[in-house]
Amino acid sequence: MAARKPLIAGNWKMFGRQSSLSEIKALWGAIAPAAEAVEALICPPAVYVGQAVWQARGTQISIGAQDCSAVGDDSARTGEISAAMLADAGAKYVIVGHSERRSQHGEPDALVRRKAEAALAAGLIPIICVGETQVERADGRASAVVGAQVRSSVPDGNAAIVVAYEPVWAIGGASTPTVAEIAEIHGLVRATLVAKFGEGASGVRILYGGSVSPKNAAEVFSAEGVDGALVGRASLKAADFAAIILGHPAAK
Ligand code: PGA
Repeated sequence: MAARKPLIAGNWKMFGRQSSLSEIKALWGAIAPAAEAVEALICPPAVYVGQAVWQARGTQISIGAQDCSAVGDDSARTGEISAAMLADAGAKYVIVGHSERRSQHGEPDALVRRKAEAALAAGLIPIICVGETQVERADGRASAVVGAQVRSSVPDGNAAIVVAYEPVWAIGGASTPTVAEIAEIHGLVRATLVAKFGEGASGVRILYGGSVSPKNAAEVFSAEGVDGALVGRASLKAADFAAIILGHPAAK
C-alpha cells in the first residue's frame, strides 16, 4: 500500500480576525521539526485565505478554504467564490460537504460532488466530508448512510481527494465515537473508495473529525485506517493545534 502522509487540518469555521493569523507563525514555531512527517493545514474564512497564505510563506503549513462554488466558470453569481479564485489566492485544499453546509444550507450529495469536481478542475484537493447523525447511528444505519454519502459525493475518475469522516453528533460536542467505531467506518470508507477507484484509492487520506482535542488525539490516531484529523475548535489556538499535530505517532 502506498504510504500516506498524515494530514491534520484545522477548520476555523466563522471564527477569527486578521489578528488571528499570527497563530500560523506560532504554529510553525512549534511544529517545524515534525513537518516532514505530518502535513498541517489551516482553513481560515475565505476572506483571510490570501493573508493566511502570506503568513505561511517560508513554512510548510498548507492553507485551504472551507467551501467553494459548484460553478467553475467566471460568471454572474453574487457572493459566490470559485475554486479557481481560491487556487489563485494560494489555497491548496478546500473543504466541501461539511455537515454545517449540509444542514444549515441544505447541500445535498449531488451539490457536494459538483463542488468537489470544481475544486479538482481548479487544481485544489477537495476534503469531502461525510458522517451520520445521532439518530442514524442509533438506528444502526451509520455504515449505510456514510457509504451512500461517499458513493454520491465523491467524483468518479480522480482520486486526488481527501475524505473526512465526521459523525455529525460528535462535532462541536464533547463525545467522540470509540476507537473501534472510528476504525469500522474508516474501513467502510476505504472499501467504498476501492470500489470506486481500484488501486488509485490507496493514496486517498481518510481523516477523522469531531471533537478532536489535545486530550483525545492520540486515541483517535490509534484507530486503524485514520490518516489524520479535521479539527474545529482546537485548531484556533496554535498551542492546542500543535499539541494535536505533535501527538500524531508519525511526529514522534
Ligand atoms: P470540532 O469541529 O473539532 O469543533 O468538533 C470539527 C469540524 O466540524 O470539522
